Amino acid sequence: MDEFGYHDGALHAEQVSIEALAETVGTPFYCYSAATLRHHYHVLDTALADAGLAERLICYSVKANSNLAVIATLAQMGAGADIVSQGELRRALQAGVPSEKIVFSGVGKTAEEMRAALEAGILQFNVESLSEIDLLAETAGALGKTAEIALRVNPDIEAGTHKKISTGTAETKFGIAWEEAEAGFAHARALDGVEAVGIDIHIGSQITDLTPFRRAFEKVGALLTALRADGHDIRRLDLGGGLGVPYAREGDGNNALPPDPRAYAQLIAETLGASGCTIMLEPGRLIAANAGILVTSVVRCKQGQAKNFMIVDAAMTELMRPTLYDAHHPIAPVLKDESATKNWDVVGPVCETGDFLGLDRALPILQPGALLAVFAAGAYGAVLGSAYNTRLAAPEVLVDGDKWAVVRARPDYEALLAGEAIPDWL
Ligand code: LLP
Repeated sequence: MDEFGYHDGALHAEQVSIEALAETVGTPFYCYSAATLRHHYHVLDTALADAGLAERLICYSVKANSNLAVIATLAQMGAGADIVSQGELRRALQAGVPSEKIVFSGVGKTAEEMRAALEAGILQFNVESLSEIDLLAETAGALGKTAEIALRVNPDIEAGTHKKISTGTAETKFGIAWEEAEAGFAHARALDGVEAVGIDIHIGSQITDLTPFRRAFEKVGALLTALRADGHDIRRLDLGGGLGVPYAREGDGNNALPPDPRAYAQLIAETLGASGCTIMLEPGRLIAANAGILVTSVVRCKQGQAKNFMIVDAAMTELMRPTLYDAHHPIAPVLKDESATKNWDVVGPVCETGDFLGLDRALPILQPGALLAVFAAGAYGAVLGSAYNTRLAAPEVLVDGDKWAVVRARPDYEALLAGEAIPDWL
């Protein structure tokens, strides 16, 4: 469910007209709906509660959309944060996430990042190798602290998603090998400066079938039993993120629906509900994807020999997902247009053949300046943006009911070039 819909033929975000926003802000821009963000958080939290999972913590995976206003919207709902860098730590704290609801994931934490998180007093570090445990123990010890850790174990499970976003197989860089997990916990127990309190997994992203989750959760249950038999006091199970979302609008023929969050919550309850542990989740896409659209203007249409191209002012620099993951994002005119359609490749101005937002899309012939919305762009959209071709980052707008604000301004060229210099010896 999202709050982007047509009123009198014009697309609105909640009560705000996208056309009016485009006039004020200029295109391209991202538009997020606060009501949709809240709704998605609420659906997941309620599903967990209804499944009887009283001890739970949803740590929004900040990497999906790290705009301060987006994080703040979720923090106000009670969300924690899953971070992967010192920069994300800053964002989470600045947006009002309490430090005791922050978990630090990631395979390459440096001592400096560990220190910053220890000083902030975060809840948990999800560690991914024995050498990381050693460095964390040493860093925490030097500060006179003990870091609570979960060991991210790699369950070697195919998540059935795109290769580039599968993280739970033995070939990926993530986690400690399943066979070495118990030795990892024993290693941690022998060290001052860390206390192993949890098991952590994350098997991939945009997972549209519950089977890999079931297999992973069952493995976590078995490991929990073994660890407790070894005398480890495991109190938290962090089951990562990864639940898929629909990348389809009504009527566009792409009806494959990912599992309902209620079925996912039931599965957690069934496999791990009796563990006595706090269940932690790190959803990103589930919360943010359908809470955002990218709005772009047509620059010109170019009808070619083999293909028709609709050239727009957004590009792979604003939305990398189509070219990076062959991802499908629905695209529709902001002002409903019932005229005859043709098939278009919707492309940007960047000098790469891979610069497209959608291929072979049925759209009317649109005039320069006509607005298009690219849907389901709230997660891994703006955050993956780049300044390639010296393009200015798209601004971000947050809508809440009839209110809206620019929550990240479009930079100017001075700001874009400010960090660069021509040496005086050149
Ligand atoms: N936790 C960890 C440790 C992760 O690595 C990720 C995502 C998440 C949680 C959140 O996963 P989600 O609930 O959003 O699936 N750029 C790609 C997705 C990369 C996902 C990276 N890790 C895309 O646009 O599809």
